[in-house]
Amino acid sequence: MKTVLITGAYRGLGLEVARQLTERGYRVILTARKHDAGQAAAAKLKNATFLELDITDAGSVARAAGQVSQLDVLINNAAIIAEGDADILHLPPELVLRTLATNTLGALRVAQAFLPHLLKSPAGRIVNVSSGGGQLSEMGTWAPAYCISKTALNAVTCQLAAALKPHGIAVNSVCPGWCRTEMGGPGAPRSVEEGTAGIVWLAADAPQEKTGLFWRDREVIPW
Ligand SMILES: NC(=O)c1ccc[n+]([C@@H]2O[C@H](COP(=O)([O-])OP(=O)(O)OC[C@H]3O[C@@H](n4cnc5c(N)ncnc54)[C@H](OP(=O)(O)O)[C@@H]3O)[C@@H](O)[C@H]2O)c1
Repeated sequence: MKTVLITGAYRGLGLEVARQLTERGYRVILTARKHDAGQAAAAKLKNATFLELDITDAGSVARAAGQVSQLDVLINNAAIIAEGDADILHLPPELVLRTLATNTLGALRVAQAFLPHLLKSPAGRIVNVSSGGGQLSEMGTWAPAYCISKTALNAVTCQLAAALKPHGIAVNSVCPGWCRTEMGGPGAPRSVEEGTAGIVWLAADAPQEKTGLFWRDREVIPW
């Protein structure tokens, strides 16, 4: 039985990915920084356990990593769009820093901490949930700090993919599309199920040799 760890998974896309992977026989480690909400979410799934994990807190990440021994798939799902992330011309640099601390460095910190466990897997995978907002080829003015953080997350994907290729660990970015979650809002065109299909595919079904790529709906998209 394969084990998958998902960050920020008590709601939204992360929770639906957790649900689908438990249905497919994965052992799911559902993580969240909110203890009670995370525990309640995990309790509703069969074959899921809860682990408290704040991806911005090095101590929290180290504690969580210390409670895991083997891992096949890491899904870096947790992210924020900070209040006031609106206008690049007047954006406080501190807001960019805070967004990078979660969306980019949080994912990197978690990948580093759980790497020893992933290395024990015969076919380890890291899935970084990114966003089309981070595509340099499509960059506009919407949510600048968030988009910059996702561009940088994609660079983390490329660096990790190159570094981990000799170890057989696949590292990819995926965009779920604009989905009806707390982050996406009720007016988004995609359901949570539509958004998670590509994440679950990368975690479970994509050919292992596919690494260092950016995906949406099972197709490679430009950086
Ligand atoms: N929804 C969309 O339209 C869309 C589009 C493109 C990409 N994405 C990406 O998809 C992923 C999931 O988003 P979503 O739509 O499901 O959003 P969501 O419902 O807002 O979920 C985000 C999750 O991240 C958690 N989180 C934030 N900071 C954290 C931290 N420091 N430590 C641990 N958990 C933390 C949140 O928990 P708290 O309550 O503790 O903050 C929440 O559980 C994100 O990476 C997002 O950027 C979403």
